[in-house]
Amino acid sequence: MAVLVTGGAGYIGSHTAVALHEAGREVVLIDNFINSSPAAVDAIRALTTPDLVFVEGDLRHRAQLDAVFEAYDIDEVIHFAAHKSVSQSVSAPLEYYDNNLGATIGVADAMVKHGVRKLVFSSSCTVYGQPDVIPVTERAPIRAESPYGWTKVMSEQILRNTAAAEDLDVALLRYFNPVGAHESGTLGEDPNGVPDNLAPVVMAVAVGRLDKIGVFGGDYATPDGTCVRDYVHVVDLAEGHVAALDALDTTLRGTCTAINLGTGIGSSVLEVIAAAEAAVGEPIAYEIVDRRPGDIEQIYADASLAAEVLGWRSQRDLAAMLRDHWTWQSMHPDGFVR
Ligand code: NAD
Ligand code: WQD
Repeated sequence: MAVLVTGGAGYIGSHTAVALHEAGREVVLIDNFINSSPAAVDAIRALTTPDLVFVEGDLRHRAQLDAVFEAYDIDEVIHFAAHKSVSQSVSAPLEYYDNNLGATIGVADAMVKHGVRKLVFSSSCTVYGQPDVIPVTERAPIRAESPYGWTKVMSEQILRNTAAAEDLDVALLRYFNPVGAHESGTLGEDPNGVPDNLAPVVMAVAVGRLDKIGVFGGDYATPDGTCVRDYVHVVDLAEGHVAALDALDTTLRGTCTAINLGTGIGSSVLEVIAAAEAAVGEPIAYEIVDRRPGDIEQIYADASLAAEVLGWRSQRDLAAMLRDHWTWQSMHPDGFVR
């Protein structure tokens, strides 16, 4: 029996593939490399087994997906594949709805057709927008603020309805802000084009690809005036997926449950830069610039449900996140060679 990991060459999917292998599970990866590289598959195989199965394909191609379910003995799915840029989703909403909803529907349909009942889905804290109460629990109102965010809200709803109709067991994992890399430095985040997430921008400055970081706003109502987020190590997230698959057989059986995956700790932009400076061993230039439209002031997770139902808690702190991200980035200043 194998776990199908969609988006398996991507940032979180690749780390999860390694964690699944370490947990003794058979893994089948599928990806169309729209935001990743075949070199990531080589890196996963180097950390796991040269025989690890990888299929190149687009989840919207139903026949291709059917062939994968027919060729391999899939009994569980982790569905990561999606476009993930908030800003791109605002300029190309149809592309985002087509890809993200098309992929989710394709995966759910193939599962139903092939009698596969267990699914872990990549959702996001973006479904909460700016919550009224922090730390935010899974019961907080849904307030997506971008087409990307809506694709997560809608995918959750599609899966809730399908789970009820088809008797699926589903975990909707709402990640906070993933940072870090595999501690070997051989696997890490490799965004296409100009980075816009904080850690890749900080690292681009550290390797000299950018002159300085523009810190988006220094006058928020937060302890140091910069925005606060819940940064979580990507390997902790990967281990959260293994825990979620296990829980689908126990605490989550017969349910479709949304669960926050975060540390429960809020860190400011300046705290992230300071942690990066400690990791790199050199100052990192930054400048406070205008607020970025659409940014929320602060959010961090109430992570108690994950502890309760998954038995999962993050293990790695901000220093470890930036240390591992830096190990990866310094070994691969230009990311994977595409
Ligand atoms: P990523 O872009 O690195 O990985 C996604 C992978 O999916 C890529 O390798 C891409 O090539 C693939 N893909 C996209 N559309 C596809 C399709 N139609 N068919 C086949 N493959 C396709 O992103 P990530 O950071 O690893 O994110 C994984 C998931 O987690 C996404 O669903 C994302 O929305 C969600 N998420 C990410 C973050 C974050 O900040 N990284 C936060 C919360 C949620
Ligand atoms: C983090 C903080 C910025 C870049 C996004 C998505 C969210 C989720 C995670 C997928 C913010 C500040 C950043 C820079 C800066 N993804 N920043 N200068 O916006 O919290 O969340 O990724 O689901 O949906 O919205 O992440 O990394 O872009 O920003 O000052 O050059 O860093 O203002 O406070 P964000 P981010």
